[in-house]
Amino acid sequence: SQQGDLSPLKHFVLAKKKISDVFEQLLQYVKESSEFVEETCQNKALEDIASEDQKIEIQAYTDKLTVIKEVLARRHMKVAFFGRTSNGKSTVVNAMLRDRVLPSGIGHTTNCFLSVEGTDEDKAYLKTEGSDEEKSIKTVNQLAHALHMDESLDAGCLVRVFWPKTKCALLRDDLVLVDSPGTDVTTQLDSWIDKFCLDADVFVLVANSESTLMNTEKHFFHKVNERLSKPNIFILNNRWDASANEPEYMEDVRKQHTDRCINFLVEELKVVDREQAPNRIFFVSAKEVLNSRMQRAQGMPENGGALAEGFEERLKEFQCFERRFEECISQSAVKTKFEQHTIRAKQIIETVQGIMDSINIEAAEKRVAAQEDREYQIDRLEFVKNQLNLLIDDTKKRIKAISEEVASKVSSAMGEEICRLNVIIDEFHADFHPSSNVLKIYKSELLSHVEEGMGKNLAFRCSSAINASVLSYQKDMIDNMLPLLPSVSQGQIHMLVPSRKFDLSYDLNCASLCSDFQENIEFQFSLGWSCLVHRYLGPANPALTAATTPTSGPPAPSNAVALPSQETAVMSQEDLMVAVATNLASITSRTSVSVLVVGGVVFRTLGWRLIALSGAIYGTLYLYERLTWTTRAKERSLKRQFVDYATEKLQLIVSFTSSNCSHQVQQEMATTFARLCQQVDQTQKELEAEIRRLTANIDQLEHVQSHSKTMRSVDELSGGGGGALCPHMTGPPTVVGRGRLGAG
Ligand code: GTP
Ligand code: MG
Repeated sequence: SQQGDLSPLKHFVLAKKKISDVFEQLLQYVKESSEFVEETCQNKALEDIASEDQKIEIQAYTDKLTVIKEVLARRHMKVAFFGRTSNGKSTVVNAMLRDRVLPSGIGHTTNCFLSVEGTDEDKAYLKTEGSDEEKSIKTVNQLAHALHMDESLDAGCLVRVFWPKTKCALLRDDLVLVDSPGTDVTTQLDSWIDKFCLDADVFVLVANSESTLMNTEKHFFHKVNERLSKPNIFILNNRWDASANEPEYMEDVRKQHTDRCINFLVEELKVVDREQAPNRIFFVSAKEVLNSRMQRAQGMPENGGALAEGFEERLKEFQCFERRFEECISQSAVKTKFEQHTIRAKQIIETVQGIMDSINIEAAEKRVAAQEDREYQIDRLEFVKNQLNLLIDDTKKRIKAISEEVASKVSSAMGEEICRLNVIIDEFHADFHPSSNVLKIYKSELLSHVEEGMGKNLAFRCSSAINASVLSYQKDMIDNMLPLLPSVSQGQIHMLVPSRKFDLSYDLNCASLCSDFQENIEFQFSLGWSCLVHRYLGPANPALTAATTPTSGPPAPSNAVALPSQETAVMSQEDLMVAVATNLASITSRTSVSVLVVGGVVFRTLGWRLIALSGAIYGTLYLYERLTWTTRAKERSLKRQFVDYATEKLQLIVSFTSSNCSHQVQQEMATTFARLCQQVDQTQKELEAEIRRLTANIDQLEHVQSHSKTMRSVDELSGGGGGALCPHMTGPPTVVGRGRLGAG
């Protein structure tokens, strides 16, 4: 039962494999988590979802886990043999290894600590402390020789013996056996314990059944017991073959030894209870076991038939010891060597799980917030769009209404002003002289005076009201549009849509409008021929004026402003002549008849005196008129003519000017509205961009959320893996593990 897979040592081997696998998985998982957290950290759009601290914490776990994995790979079961010199410690080790591995012999043979562990190589070698050199050993004598020749070695040194695993099943199962010099050869027990005992899973006290337990041996185990909590101690009463020589005392001796050993373990060390204690005490002969095993290995009959009395029982008892020992050491080692790591693994899993949880929650919260935000922005975009459409319709109507109002206001004001034109012209004073140069300057000044005066009066009548209503409607527009803009732009609206001062310009352009004005200030006797004709046909007839005025120049260049008046102006010369001739003919015939009749009657009644008187009166009248035809009179006449002329011309441009003004207002308001619309457009674009950004963000958050969730459920699998360790965690759960051995 000592060989093959049935060995209880396999329990440790399997557990080690399992825990290594679990840690490998765990390492992969933590690495994956670490990458995930790092990615999340680096993503600017996912700010605050995973913190830098979390990233560092998880990264630290990958390092820790790598170390733990290495430590676990080196983990083995360790049994240490103690006892007085020559009790047979080395022989026991050899018997268990089924080969003469360690030197043994009479007297003090083992002079330092010797550990025996397996190697995958097929030759044995040793390593001394402080050197990596592998010293090959072929025979046990060579080893003994090597040890004895090395003077640097003292009792506290360790020599590691590597023995091919192929030669020994125990070594295949990760068992390390440590042989020691006799406990009686040193006083430095404390340093021994520190160096060799703290990580030992089982201690075997090799006692000599030919004598009783010695104080040096007891003292050592007391010290071990002080340092370790409840060490596993087996007591081998070796050299029991000697009892065969005195069979009559055998039972008594055995009982005596057993009682003392039980007392030592139960009462003094308190490492085991009384019921369990007998399972820790054995009576064996290592020498016999070693011999028989080596002979069998060589194919010879065990001990060549020269077996001492009771050999079979002693062999059985040794085998029994081996079995108990293996069970004990594998269980204890699994517990002490893996428990801490299992707990650590669970902690790491829990922490990583916690981090994944918090990332998950954070991502979920952020996602919900982002979704709400997106919902809000979509609503807002919809609202802005609808509202803008409504406002566009409304504004168009209002701009139309307001410009119509302006047109009517301007046209009525202009009508009134035209009626008052003579007032403006009367107010004009300048140097007047009939000479053509002075007259030219006088007229141009008069024109600009009229333009200025009209402009002023119109402005006085309309501008302030119109400007105010434009301004107030601009303000209305801004107020209506303002809610559609983001609050940042709302504060800056007066910069974005500058409300420059609007000023209506009437632009009468009198100079060109009246450029073809031609005064007539030649003296004309009111009873003179041309005047009578003039009076008879009416002064308003421009055709006659044009026809009767000898200085009449070519018609003024057609004025765009005075378009409607052109029809009359371009009346052809022929038409004029016909009209004049017709008029003249009718006047001449009627006048000559009446003159002849009246003349005849008057002449007959009054005679020459009357004619002379009439002639005198006519002459005086003529003289009077000729004398009063002063410069002032000429100016007055010119002004009068100009009033008539300008009135007519201005009336022609009333509708043009008013529509021009209304156009200005319309333009002004349309500009403001366009600016506002531009801002709203900008807002819409910004909203759309924000919605796109939020959508991308939501996608990323969803990814993080689902990834962190899977990482958490991987956790649960790994948690199961951690749980899978538990079945291997045998032994009473209340026993305190030797945590100080843990690597973490
Ligand atoms: P040190 O290394 O000096 O501390 O001694 P040790 O405890 O290693 O003893 P070792 O195994 O070297 O054995 C000492 C002597 O006792 C050897 O000659 C062994 O052959 C002999 N011996 C060991 N075990 C037994 C046994 O069970 N019966 C008998 N008769 N002799 C034994
Ligand atoms: Mg020895």
